[in-house]
Amino acid sequence: MVDATLTRRKDFLSILDFDPPELDHCLQLAAQLKADRSLGRQAPTADALNGRHVGMLFDKPSLRTRTTFEIAIRELGGHPVALQPDVALGHREPVADVARNLERWVNAVIIRTFSQYLLQEFAAAAPQLHVVNALTDQEHPCQALADCLTLQERIGPLRGRTIAYVGDGNNVATSLVHAAAMLGVHVHVASPEPYQLPHAVVQQATAVARHGARLRLFTDAADAVAGVDAVYTDTWTSMGQEAEADLRRRVFAAYQVNDELMALAKPGALFMHCLPAHRGEEVTAEVFESEVSVVFEQAENRLHGQKALLLMLLAPSVGL
Ligand code: CP
Ligand code: NVA
Repeated sequence: MVDATLTRRKDFLSILDFDPPELDHCLQLAAQLKADRSLGRQAPTADALNGRHVGMLFDKPSLRTRTTFEIAIRELGGHPVALQPDVALGHREPVADVARNLERWVNAVIIRTFSQYLLQEFAAAAPQLHVVNALTDQEHPCQALADCLTLQERIGPLRGRTIAYVGDGNNVATSLVHAAAMLGVHVHVASPEPYQLPHAVVQQATAVARHGARLRLFTDAADAVAGVDAVYTDTWTSMGQEAEADLRRRVFAAYQVNDELMALAKPGALFMHCLPAHRGEEVTAEVFESEVSVVFEQAENRLHGQKALLLMLLAPSVGL
């Protein structure tokens, strides 16, 4: 049974919507769901979302997030409803009106859009509707669930470990830093000016840090990766920033994760990337394809992390 001390959450717009016990619980539940997956329709959670509808609205492209959420909903016995981008969130009618319509038909909505603030406005307008952030310009919390699950599987208890994030202080970096702080993981972030983590994110991570977890910002990638357990990077040009791609290639050139950089980390240190990756830019093909690369494990774990999340939001009495 679920831990009775956990409160039921309406939304998951940010890792910060969880308290540390909820994050721990989500990761444990994800590991259990992963182990149970081979049971198929015999899995104890196969009908947990029976009769529930979950809308999916993507204003930006997606492979992993869209596919894993659709499979997650189906494997829990729910019904995914693919909303088309011509909903034109925030343009065709007020955001709050879209939310209040959807609240009458579906139990939850998974949304990938540009603005975190728009997502907050959407969630606030519909008190009965569960809203999940499938990536905004500011945060990518579902990615961080999969990243932490992957780290736990590969290196065991995470408390006191150190990971480095090299590159743009973006949505993926933000959610990773939030989760790591709550799990007691030290994080080194190496980014060029002015692409460092927003100051507010540094403050948030400090506020939620457990077990002495420290966040340190660097401008030099070599300094940041020295002795770490895992090196993480992401694209230099996120969706919506395509006009800046040439500039960003120049600014981030010294932040490529290559064999030379990986050699400075702890022997056997993992390489991580949320994908899609750009070989020859943020990572070399050699590192991407190397034995320490866990990128497809991260991709697989998107499914298990999101199944756990959906259970916690929609069926909290089902689970561990
Ligand atoms: N990592 C990730 O979110 O992938 P997609 O953009 O393909 O969903
Ligand atoms: N930072 C990237 C992540 C893609 C999954 C982007 O926002 O495009």
